[in-house]
Amino acid sequence: MILSVEDLRELAKRRVPRAIFDYADGGAYEERTLRRNGADLDALTFRQRVMIDVSNISLATNFLGAAASMPLGIGPTGLAGLFHADGEIVGARAAAACGIPFCLSTMSICSIEDVRAATKQPFWFQQYLMKDRGFNQELIDRAAAAQCSALMLTLDLQVIGERRRDPRNGLTIPPRLNLRNAVDVAMRPSWALGMLFGKRRTFGNLVGRIGGTSGIRTLAEWTATQFDASANWRDVEWVRSRWPGKLILKGVLDAEDARFGVAAGADAIVVSNHGGRQLDGAPSTISVLPEIVDAVGGRCEVLFDGGIRSGQDIAKALALGARGALIGKSFLFALAAAGEAGVTKAIEIMRNELRVTLALTGTTSVDAVGPHILRAGHTQSRPL
Ligand code: GLV
Repeated sequence: MILSVEDLRELAKRRVPRAIFDYADGGAYEERTLRRNGADLDALTFRQRVMIDVSNISLATNFLGAAASMPLGIGPTGLAGLFHADGEIVGARAAAACGIPFCLSTMSICSIEDVRAATKQPFWFQQYLMKDRGFNQELIDRAAAAQCSALMLTLDLQVIGERRRDPRNGLTIPPRLNLRNAVDVAMRPSWALGMLFGKRRTFGNLVGRIGGTSGIRTLAEWTATQFDASANWRDVEWVRSRWPGKLILKGVLDAEDARFGVAAGADAIVVSNHGGRQLDGAPSTISVLPEIVDAVGGRCEVLFDGGIRSGQDIAKALALGARGALIGKSFLFALAAAGEAGVTKAIEIMRNELRVTLALTGTTSVDAVGPHILRAGHTQSRPL
């Protein structure tokens, strides 16, 4: 019985090989920040309110000028197409059918053009600053040609935090069958068949399109050889000057950086620690959200990610000032568990949880959510 995102996560564990599951499930180094994201969300408690008419609850909102059926979007995740054949197309379709935005990652398996050709709704496209700025320009042009409705620039991956599960599991892209993983793969026949008969197994936006990359097999190698560790705010301004549409800056965890982001012309920032996959020892995203919202002072939209597993989590992020929340891991678990139906299920589970949470906190619309739905003293990061 699938009643929660956690149920989808359990199913995902059984459906995809360990190396793929762990790529989504894990974080950097000792995974302290990863755990803190969830623990600090859990530590917040709601004010239950009663005897308020909650017979009509509206979850509708908008992000970056576009309507959304609820304050949730699918954030960019690498390798989604290895969790399920054509995973990014599947995710974009589910998001569109549910009326929420979908963001395609540069490190996706399906390319921008694949997703464009297979879907009708506009999607967002994410990129990093690469050493080859010509390639950034090419990605911007391709996103524009695909009529992407926003460009998301990831700021927090100039160098990669070591995700220790990946080398331990021998994760490579494309995945390789070897003696170590043969039993693991053999026990997941539907995944293996989907991958065998699927067309796409490697980085669709990159392989064959960017020079000097043959032989690169891991995300760590891609980052070390292609991502620009020298990137700075002037480069963000450069992207701003090249992209006429909505610009989202992802990976802000500090009030001062949020102010720089606003100054660089962001239409939105995403408060994010990359799902605990980068700086281990960084604070949870929910613990810094209020100070960042404060620093931004309404000059751009503030989105949130990091540990969102339920509608209750979304309500907590909204209460502390986010306009909406993005899911990464929860999306990949749902995709691995049951493809498009799984992603739709995850969104609908969170929608219902959010609706009930609003009702039981005496709130009738997402616009009316504020810090008053939480009990006081709620933003302390707790020791793990
Ligand atoms: C990519 O951005 C990742 O976190 O794996």
